[in-house]
Amino acid sequence: MSDEDFWFFEEEVMPNGIIRLAKPGEDSAIHAAHMRSIREICVNDHGEEEIRGWGFRELGNRWVDAIQRKEVWVIEDDGSIKGFGYIRIFEENGTTKAHLHALYLTPEIIGKKFATRLMGLMLEKAKISGAKEIALDSSITAHSFYKRFGFVDSGPMRQVDIGGYPVTSYPMCLEF
Ligand SMILES: CC(C)(COP(=O)(O)OP(=O)(O)OC[C@H]1O[C@@H](n2cnc3c(N)ncnc32)[C@H](O)[C@@H]1OP(=O)(O)O)[C@@H](O)C(=O)NCCC(=O)NCCS
Repeated sequence: MSDEDFWFFEEEVMPNGIIRLAKPGEDSAIHAAHMRSIREICVNDHGEEEIRGWGFRELGNRWVDAIQRKEVWVIEDDGSIKGFGYIRIFEENGTTKAHLHALYLTPEIIGKKFATRLMGLMLEKAKISGAKEIALDSSITAHSFYKRFGFVDSGPMRQVDIGGYPVTSYPMCLEF
């Protein structure tokens, strides 16, 4: 599928801000929103101990390739990045699959339906790409949020090591 086929995902203006594809060079702004979301929102459900590694990681180069593949969207509010989402589409055993790696908002934009709209865009991209299922590992914070979109638990709650500290995670999936 050509880039043109995804033109409608590139930017969406909402009453309080914009959802658009991330641009090369926005890695550190995405990372800052990511870490703030964990430290200021997830901490309320996960506790200080669980975010010690998860919420204090170095940037590294984790966003570079995903931005190039046009799989990362940002929420821009007042001229700065206040949230983002990342879904990866891939082939496995001849089947197209998707993994929703991230959906993180900062406190300023919570409750304004950005997350719902961004979920809609990411689910639509997965469907258009031919994915038969979407998997994700949910935080405690977003577990019920993902259920609203039809995601179900695909395994027992587990502890995932992030930066040397265990983080509670719920494996979930959505089949089309
Ligand atoms: C989960 C998250 C993305 C939701 O963002 P949000 O700004 O509240 O989402 P929206 O404004 O789009 O909410 C839309 C609806 O979902 C509901 N909702 C939001 N969070 C919810 C939750 N955790 N459980 C159940 N419902 C939830 C809202 O009440 C709202 O309901 P309504 O349409 O009936 O009024 C946000 O809380 C967040 O960034 N959390 C921290 C990061 C995180 O844990 N990400 C997941 C990593 S796997």
